[in-house]
Amino acid sequence: MRAVAVLNQKGGVGKTTTSVHLAHGMARLGERVLGIDMDPQGHMGTSLGADNRLPGLDRVLLNEERLVDHRQNVREHLDLICAGPGLRSFETLDEGGPERGWWLNEALYELETESASEAPEWVVMDCPPSSGLLAMNALLAADDLVIPVSCDFLSLQGLSTLMQTLAKVEERMQGASRKWLVLTRFQTRRRLSREVQETLVNHFPGQLLQTPIRENVALAEAPGFGRTVFEYQATSNGAADYAALVEDLRLGRVR
Ligand SMILES: Nc1ncnc2c1ncn2[C@@H]1O[C@H](COP(=O)(O)OP(=O)(O)O)[C@@H](O)[C@H]1O
Ligand SMILES: [Mg+2]
Repeated sequence: MRAVAVLNQKGGVGKTTTSVHLAHGMARLGERVLGIDMDPQGHMGTSLGADNRLPGLDRVLLNEERLVDHRQNVREHLDLICAGPGLRSFETLDEGGPERGWWLNEALYELETESASEAPEWVVMDCPPSSGLLAMNALLAADDLVIPVSCDFLSLQGLSTLMQTLAKVEERMQGASRKWLVLTRFQTRRRLSREVQETLVNHFPGQLLQTPIRENVALAEAPGFGRTVFEYQATSNGAADYAALVEDLRLGRVR
């Protein structure tokens, strides 16, 4: 099992879009995938056409229920744990001490040991735009962090803060996850897009996944239909870019 957290405290950078398409993209290749919607807003659930009214991660984190009991099968090879209506209150939970940051890690470990050969090969966690307890649970459960960076100046500025925070947490935990950056909302003809790309290659060598995700209207439209871009517009740039990104992550292809 390889657990991937799609993480960035900044909103609107493409976390949910990237989570949905990494998850469905892997599943389309025949890998068993479990998506986990860690954002109380439930955008990953909505994007995949799942039923957000059902309980999900909220029960796992607040009531110690099992992940296996809250899976919704949303596509072939792809199950989803929805955020659940109660997830918001987990962020402000004041019981459990520092251990509560590890609860998702424990739940995934239980899932892996219980389901043995049926266990997912990939877990994709879509994080909320914050750096609280939910993001901490994703971080401590992840083998890989995928950090979407949109092609604008403020996104770049937020990134250096994020990387410093991550380094501190990892130092304390005495363990590090692999960190990958993904350029999103890339506009081929814009100088700023190319400058952001260059800056990332220079500052984070070996970490920027090869394929930039271009700005593409099909990616913005698809969630409104509860479909992924692979279903909504298979010939779009969005579908091509995310299919390539899936391979980048599988193979560790970087710039
Ligand atoms: N490459 C892209 N091209 C066009 N629209 C995009 C692209 N990536 C994301 N979007 C749109 O931008 C908005 C924010 O993206 P989202 O994935 O929800 O970001 P986050 O989860 O980080 O807040 C959404 O409306 C989404 O559909
Ligand atoms: Mg989101």
